Amino acid sequence: MSRLVVVSNRVAMPDQAGGASVGGLTMALAAALQHYRGLWFGWSGETTPAFTGEVHVRETGGVAIATIDLEDQDVQEYYNGYANTVLWPLFHYRIDLTEYERAFGEGYARVNARFADTLLSQIRPDDLIWVHDYHLIPLAQELRRRGLTNRIGFFLHIPWPACQLMTTLPHHQALVEALFAYDLVGFQTQDWLSAFEGYVVDELGGEVHDNGCVSAFGRTVRAGAFPIGIDVDNLTEIVKSATAAKSYDRAAATNVYRQLIIGIDRIDYSKGLEERFAAYAQFLETNPEFRERVSYLQIAQTSRSAVGAYQDIRIRLDGVAGRINAAYGTLDWTPLRYVNRSYGRDFLAGVYRAAAIGLVTPLRDGMNLVAKEYVAAQNPRDPGVLILSRFAGAARQMKSALIVNPYSREDVADAIKRALIMPKVERIERWEALMLGLRTEDVSGWRDAFVDALKTSQSKLHSVPDSAASAPGSPMLTPVPPTRLALDSAICPVSRLRRRKLAVLSPSDL
Ligand code: F6P
Repeated sequence: MSRLVVVSNRVAMPDQAGGASVGGLTMALAAALQHYRGLWFGWSGETTPAFTGEVHVRETGGVAIATIDLEDQDVQEYYNGYANTVLWPLFHYRIDLTEYERAFGEGYARVNARFADTLLSQIRPDDLIWVHDYHLIPLAQELRRRGLTNRIGFFLHIPWPACQLMTTLPHHQALVEALFAYDLVGFQTQDWLSAFEGYVVDELGGEVHDNGCVSAFGRTVRAGAFPIGIDVDNLTEIVKSATAAKSYDRAAATNVYRQLIIGIDRIDYSKGLEERFAAYAQFLETNPEFRERVSYLQIAQTSRSAVGAYQDIRIRLDGVAGRINAAYGTLDWTPLRYVNRSYGRDFLAGVYRAAAIGLVTPLRDGMNLVAKEYVAAQNPRDPGVLILSRFAGAARQMKSALIVNPYSREDVADAIKRALIMPKVERIERWEALMLGLRTEDVSGWRDAFVDALKTSQSKLHSVPDSAASAPGSPMLTPVPPTRLALDSAICPVSRLRRRKLAVLSPSDL
């Protein structure tokens, strides 16, 4: 079996099943690596005064972890800058928050080149390389420039923006061209895949083939939707742990006469927290009979705090939460408990189980695994209700949730009321349908579907002329001239071409 080499910006192997406080992406990658016994490569999270190129390797849980340190300037320009002040807001439809600076693009290109330089020595000839997320879009192009011919796949965990938004990015074509150095490009949902295909057709004059390949820049790659799932059995085990039992008891004890609403998010403007708080206030305002009978607990972990937009949203949320409690709170009732800290998955599993409602209302989200974990943690005989934004990728699969428009306070407030009074028989029916979906499309299905597709997606003769290497001081992502590419015709036949003009997203999405 080929070794799997996973590359992502962050590397955080959970020490044990439920103990560590790690996000869904990390859990999914850890699960994939444990299965394939591979290598996980990424940034250590540490900085060093001058980049050394030293790779620190250690082993944990049967997985080799290789990390590099970056310079402060790298972190500022690549992580805080290009990744989180340019690509993140743009890909989440917030072009009002993107602040493109040339230095950010240069830092992004420099760090991707540093990843390629240091990763190269770790690669064996038959390794499959799986690159994750928007921090590392140019990595395959950099590796190809250094002569690597292994199969390389890319998976985007966040949305792909509509064409009109994408074109607001300086050098957008160069960024997209970098994706054509991969053998397989994966998206969370058909929506994001369609948006990407729309860009290829409408902006590049490229083509979408019936067999799932797309052509542009004289190259053809396979592109597909691979919705990420969770490890359902792992979660149903964790919910039985002593820590989960304790957190369940604590959550239930403080809500003996009240129904608990739970929200768990990173503090990020894409999560729709301000809008969610406002919808909750609307619910309390228009349904006074529910006051003191509900309690909303929002656990919100601080995130990317060096980025201005994240500092701003934090200040605004503090203000909104305070105003709601001042307006509706009573001597012994705090309507909204807003907690800025992170908890382990086992602790959260107990809180999920105690909650009558899981409130997951992002304004835009690649998938959202909190929605899935909330459902998996429920008591089958008395499950809670998931309220889910239509703009989360998860809404494509989780159709038995109460699907809401997070921009509409009334809509979300109505859904809260409906969930609180929903008869048990309906709750069970909805939960069973959701659980069936979670089991059918779980994390191992996602991993195997992507890895199997990568194994059979190899494009041949990737060769990038030397002249195409980044010139020092060039803008980020120097466009690469079209390369010669002979595709394995059995894998990506270029017959049955289709030029698709796609109505990518409806005007209301913009
Ligand atoms: O899921 C998107 C993502 O950016 C991941 O790549 C990342 O691990 C996670 O969100 C948390 O973000 P950050 O690493 O910036 O804290």
